[in-house]
This record gives sequence, structure tokens and C-alpha cells, in this order.
Amino acid sequence: MEKHIQTFLNKISYLAITIATLTLILVFLFQPPPETCINPKLNPNHKPHPKSSCDAAHRHLTTIHNKNHRLWSTNTWRKSVDSFSAIFRDLQTLKHISNLTHALILSAGGGQAVMSLKEIGLHDVTGVELVDSPPLVSRADPHNLPFFDRVFDLGFSANLDQALFPSRYVRELERTVRVGGVVVVCVEVCENGGVMEVLKLFRRSEFSQARNVTLMGSKMTMIITRRIESIS
Ligand SMILES: *[C@@H]1O[C@H](CO)[C@@H](O)[C@H](O)[C@H]1NC(C)=O
Ligand SMILES: *[C@@H]1O[C@H](CO)[C@@H](O)[C@H](O)[C@H]1NC(C)=O
Repeated sequence: MEKHIQTFLNKISYLAITIATLTLILVFLFQPPPETCINPKLNPNHKPHPKSSCDAAHRHLTTIHNKNHRLWSTNTWRKSVDSFSAIFRDLQTLKHISNLTHALILSAGGGQAVMSLKEIGLHDVTGVELVDSPPLVSRADPHNLPFFDRVFDLGFSANLDQALFPSRYVRELERTVRVGGVVVVCVEVCENGGVMEVLKLFRRSEFSQARNVTLMGSKMTMIITRRIESIS
């Protein structure tokens, strides 16, 4: 091969290596920040850095611990955990949940419902909210959950009333709950007509039953549905 062609080829391969390296560096630098600290069941579209917000959480563990200790020992906290426990025991009696149920709580707030389910004996409870409250609640947008399809046995929300886009919110709940699992929402107390309105948001679940419950001092209607295959 002629010498100048050889030199030219060498230059091209150096260039290729440089470009590849730069690309790698750029990809590394511009990886999106993590969505949540939750690792299992993560949607591949949301790639978390194992180190970052979770590590930060560890750094602040003592402060979090103290803060939580104060919060969790208040009467208000205890009362609201207990009011969730009452309705979850209902679900237990109705055989909708057991200790082995993988539960998702949407719009989990400070984590009262999460704590309640854990106290009842569930081993795997995931709580998400727009603002995280470690260690009970991770950050995620309820309209765009970072979980694979059908990974939970129970999807629960007591805040559908406050959802910005209720149909999208319900769609995400249904998407992440397995066929045969239950999706339960508590809404402002309503008559049968109101229940029908809420059920219109459900495209992949069939109505199981409605019950009036008291949650944190407010009368609410709990609507229980069972996840079925999509109706196309
Ligand atoms: C579920 O867990 C609770 C609390 O840990 C325990 O008391 C109860 O016996 C468990 N139930 C079953 C059926 O294992
Ligand atoms: C819940 O209460 C409302 C009135 O407050 C009533 O109309 C409705 O039938 C009740 N629903 C159930 C399931 O008991």
C-alpha cells in the first residue's frame, strides 16, 4: 500500500477513536438525573444512577431520622395511619390483600398508608409522591410512573380527586397492576351515580364493590376494582 494512503487511513482511525471516546464522555456527562430511589421494577426508560439522590438520602439519614421520629410520634400521624389501617384490614378480610401483596400507593403524601400496610404485615410496599419523603415515599410523577407494566398486586390511591389528569392517573395505576390484581381508589363520598362517573376512568378493570369509609376524619367512598385484560 502506498505510504500516503496508509497515513491517511491511520489518521481516519485515530479520528474514529477520538469521536467514539468523546461520544462516550458526552453520553456519560449528560445522563439524565435519577427519577427516584426505587430500584426494582424500574422502567428501562428511567435509568437511575445508583449513586446520587439515594446517597444523598443516606448522608441526611440522621436528620431524616430525627425529623421522622418527631412526625411519626404526633397524634395526627398516628390517627391517619390508623384510619388507613381500618380500610386496609377491610381489604384483608375481603381477601384483596395478604402479607405477600406487592402494593403501590400513589400520591402517598408523607407515607401514612405505606406505614399502615407495613404494620399490617405487607413486606413489599412502594409509595410514590411528587415530593419524596424518605424512607417511606419516593419521588415519581403519578401520571408517568417509573415502573414496568403489571408489577404490583394492589394499586391504591386516596387522592384521585386531586389528580391533575384523572384519566391518565388511573391509566398508570391500571398499567402497573397485574391482571387479577386490584385497583382501589378512595374519592369524596358519592352516591351510585358518582361511583359510575369514577368508573368511567377505568378502562382495564371491572367494578368489584364500593364502600363508604372514614379516612382521616373525612367520609369517603372506596371503590374496589379488579384488573382485567384490556378491552380493545
Ligand atoms: C402477616 O403479618 C403480620 C404482621 O407481621 C402477622 O402478624 C401475621 O400473622 C401475618 N399473616 C400471615 C397470614 O402470615
Ligand atoms: C355512601 O354514602 C352516600 C351518602 O352519603 C350514599 O348515597 C351511598 O349510597 C353510600 N354508598 C355506599 C356504597 O354505601
